[in-house]
Amino acid sequence: MNTPNPTDKPDLTDATAHAGAAHLIEQSLGHLYSAALRTAALHHLADHLAGGPRTAAELARLTGTEAAFLRRCLRYLASREIFREDGNGAFHLTPAAQFLRAGVPGSLRDAVLMFTDEIFVRSSSALDHTVRTGTPGFPTVFGAPFFAYLQGDAAARELFDTGMAAFSEPLDDLVAGAYPFPDRGTVVDVGGGRGGLLRRVLLRHPGLSGVLLDQAPALADHVLGESALAGRWRAEPGDFFASVPDGGDVYVLKHVLHDWDDEAAVRILSACRRGLAPGGTVLVVDSVPAPDNAPHPGKALDVAMMTIVTGKERGPKDLDVLFARAGLRRTRILPTPTFASIVEAVAA
Ligand SMILES: C[S@@+](CC[C@H](N)C(=O)[O-])C[C@H]1O[C@@H](n2cnc3c(N)ncnc32)[C@H](O)[C@@H]1O
Repeated sequence: MNTPNPTDKPDLTDATAHAGAAHLIEQSLGHLYSAALRTAALHHLADHLAGGPRTAAELARLTGTEAAFLRRCLRYLASREIFREDGNGAFHLTPAAQFLRAGVPGSLRDAVLMFTDEIFVRSSSALDHTVRTGTPGFPTVFGAPFFAYLQGDAAARELFDTGMAAFSEPLDDLVAGAYPFPDRGTVVDVGGGRGGLLRRVLLRHPGLSGVLLDQAPALADHVLGESALAGRWRAEPGDFFASVPDGGDVYVLKHVLHDWDDEAAVRILSACRRGLAPGGTVLVVDSVPAPDNAPHPGKALDVAMMTIVTGKERGPKDLDVLFARAGLRRTRILPTPTFASIVEAVAA
C-alpha cells in the first residue's frame, strides 16, 4: 500500500481539529442514518405523529416495537432534523419528516423505502469495486444489469416504479412549470415511468397531447387515468434504444440519460433526434450540480448511478458532446425550483 507521507499532521490539541475528527467518525457511520430512516418509514412513525407529538413509549405501543430501542433511533434522527424531541420527551414532525408520511401529496415514503432497500444498499457496499473497475456493483451483487434484473423480479420492479414515482412527484409540477411548452403538439415522455411528469404537463397545457414510452411493467400502473386527460395521451411499451414514437414536438428525458454511459445515452438521444418533428426540442431533465463544494442531491445521485447502473450526472459540456454525436445542439439550460435543470436541445 502506498501511504502518503503527511506534512500537515492533525493537531490533536486543537478543538477545531477534534471537531473534524468527530465529523469524520459520524460520517463513517452514515449507513446507520439511512437504516434509521428506513425503520421510521417502515413503522409509519411520521404518520403516527401527524396528529401531534408523541413519546417513544406511545409510538412503540402503536407500532409494536421496543420503546427503549425506538427512542434511540428517534434521538439519532432528531439530531439530523428528521423529527424533533421536546423537553418532555415527545417527538414532533419536522418539515422533512412531513414527507415521510404515507399517502399525502408529495409523500416521499416510497422513495425512502426504495433508496434504503438492499438493491441500493448492497450495490453501494461494492463502491470500492466500482471505483477500482469502473463498473457498477449491482450486476456483481445481483447477477444482471439493473434494468434487465427488474424484468425478471416483479417485486423489485414494483419497488422501483413506486419509489421513482414518489421521488418524482414533488418535482413534476415544478419541472412542468419551468419550461415554456408549446400550446399545441405532442410531448413524448421517453422512459417516463408511470407518467407523473407527463400528467402535469398535460394538465397545464390543455392543447397538448402526450405519449408515455417505457417498459411495459412501468406503464401498467400509470397515473394518467383522470378524466381531464381522456383521449389526449397513449402509452407505448417499447425499447428506447430501438426507437421512440415518431413526430414528437417535445421529447422529454427525465432522470433517464443519467442511467446510461455515453454510448447508450447517444443511442437514446439519436432515437429522439430521428423522431423529432420539424422545429421540435429534446429536453434532458437531470440534476446539474455546480462545480463547488456545496451539498447537492445530484452529488449523491451521481455516486448512486455508478453503483447501480453505468450512468452519471452530466454537466452542460458533457451533454454537448453527446448532443453533437446525436445530431443535436444545446440551445439553453433552464433552472427549475427543484435540484434538476432542464437542458434543451434542437436538431443541429
Ligand atoms: C430512473 S427511471 C425515470 C422515470 C421517470 N422519467 C421519472 O423521472 O420518474 C428510468 C426509466 O427508464 C425506463 N427504461 C429503462 N430502460 C428502458 C428501455 N430500454 N426502453 C424504455 N424505457 C426504459 C425504466 O423502466 C424507468 O422507468
